Amino acid sequence: MHDFRYVAGQLFCEEISVESLVKKHGSPLYVYSQRTLTSHYQRLDAALSELDHSICYAMKSNSNIAVMHTLAKLGSGFDVVSEGELRRVIAAGGDASKCVFAGVGKTEQEIRYALDQGIYAFNVESEPELERINRVAGKLKKKAPIAVRVNPNVDANTHAKITTGTYENKFGIAFEEVEAVYARAAKLKNLHLRGVQMHIGSQLTEVAPFATAVRKMQALVEKLKSKYAFEFFSIGGGLGIVYEGALVSGAAAWWKRPEAREILTPSSYAQTLVPLLKGLGLRVLIEPGRFISGNAGILVTRVEYVKRTGKKNFVIVDAAMNDLLRPAFYDAYHEIVPLRKKRGATLSTDVVGPICESSDYFCKDRPLPKLGEGDYIALLSAGAYGSAMGSTYNSRSLAAEVLVNGKKSALVRTRQELETIWRYESLATWQQPR
Ligand code: LLP
Repeated sequence: MHDFRYVAGQLFCEEISVESLVKKHGSPLYVYSQRTLTSHYQRLDAALSELDHSICYAMKSNSNIAVMHTLAKLGSGFDVVSEGELRRVIAAGGDASKCVFAGVGKTEQEIRYALDQGIYAFNVESEPELERINRVAGKLKKKAPIAVRVNPNVDANTHAKITTGTYENKFGIAFEEVEAVYARAAKLKNLHLRGVQMHIGSQLTEVAPFATAVRKMQALVEKLKSKYAFEFFSIGGGLGIVYEGALVSGAAAWWKRPEAREILTPSSYAQTLVPLLKGLGLRVLIEPGRFISGNAGILVTRVEYVKRTGKKNFVIVDAAMNDLLRPAFYDAYHEIVPLRKKRGATLSTDVVGPICESSDYFCKDRPLPKLGEGDYIALLSAGAYGSAMGSTYNSRSLAAEVLVNGKKSALVRTRQELETIWRYESLATWQQPR
C-alpha cells in the first residue's frame, strides 16, 4: 500500500531515511514516494484491464508537478477544475487531450483556454453552463466535447463535507432531469455529446455506494448512448484509503495483510463494478485522487516544545493547520509516528501547531510515545489534500516537498521564502512616500 516503513528503528521512505531528508531540507517537509504513486496507479489500471478505460487522476488531491509528471509518464489523464490546474498539467508534461474539466463555476476564460488546449471533455454541472460552453465554442468555431454530470442522489456514506452525490449538494444535474438536459444540449450546435459523468463523494470506504450509483445509472446510460452515440461513462473518483493503522512493519505486500485493514482494494472495487460496466460498451473513466496520492505522502515536523497543563500533555510542533488542514477542517485522523521508533509507555497527547486557533491540532488525547524537543514525527497518509490545501495563514511559508525514488531524492518544491508571501501586496497610493 505504501513505501514508508521502519528499518532498524528508523522511518524510511523507499530506500532513504526520512530523518536524512528532513536534516537536509528542513522542517516541516512533505515527502512523497514515487514507487507508491506508481504502484497505486498501476494496481488500479490492472484491476480495470477488462474494460476500455482511462484513469483521470484528480490532481486537486496533489498537484505538485513532479507528482503529476510521474503519473503523466504512466499514461494518466487528469481531472482538472480550473485553468490553473490545466496549465499545471501542461507544465508537468501531461496531455490535455486526456483531461476532463469539472467544477460548477467554469468561467468563459477557462472554457476558452480548455477548448484551445483540446481537452477530452467538460463535465457540465448546469444548464446555464451548457449554454455558455456552446457560446464560447461557437466564437472559436469549435465543437466542445461535453458530458453532463449526473447527480444520482445516492448517499456515499462519508463525511458530510465531502459528500457530493445527493440533492443536498451543489453538484451535477438531478437524475430525473438528465434526459431533458441532453435533449436540449443536442440542439446546441457547437456541442459534441461525448459521454456522461457522475461522482458521489470522497473517501468512500465500501464499494456498495459505487455499485448502487452505477446500477441506478445503467439504464439511463444505455438509453443516452444509443441516442447520442456516446463514447464514455465516467464514474468519478472517491476510492477511500486507510488512515488508521496506516503503518505496519515491512512494506512488502502490505495490502495482503489482514491487519492492514485496507477498506477498499482495486480488486474489490473492480470485482463489483466491472461486471456492471462491461456490458455498456463504453470507455469507462475513473477520477481517483486520494487513492493514488494519499498514502504516497507524509508530512514531517519537528517537536518544538512540550507543554503540560493541569490536564493535558501538549506537543507543539513546527507544522500547523496551514500545512495540513484536514484535522482542523474535517476532524480527520492522521496516524502520527516518530521518525525514530520509541519504546516504553505511551502518553495521552495533543499534537498541536503554533497557529493562534484552537482548531490548529493534529490529534487530541492520542496515546503516543513520550516526545521531546528536537524529535521529529511524521503525519502519515498526508499525500492527498495535504500540501494541496496549504495556505500562508499566519504568514507561514508553504512547506518544502521532496520526491523519493529508490535511493534517490529530489527537492520538488523549495520552501517558500517569507518575502514572497506578500510579494503581490502593495501600499495604497495615498500611503506611498512622495
Ligand atoms: N472527481 C470529482 C468530480 C471530485 O470532485 C473529486 C474530489 C474527485 C474526483 C476525487 O476524489 P478522491 O478520489 O480524491 O476522493 N479535501 C477533502 C476531499 C475533497 C474532495 C473533492 N472532490 C479531503 O481532504 O478529504
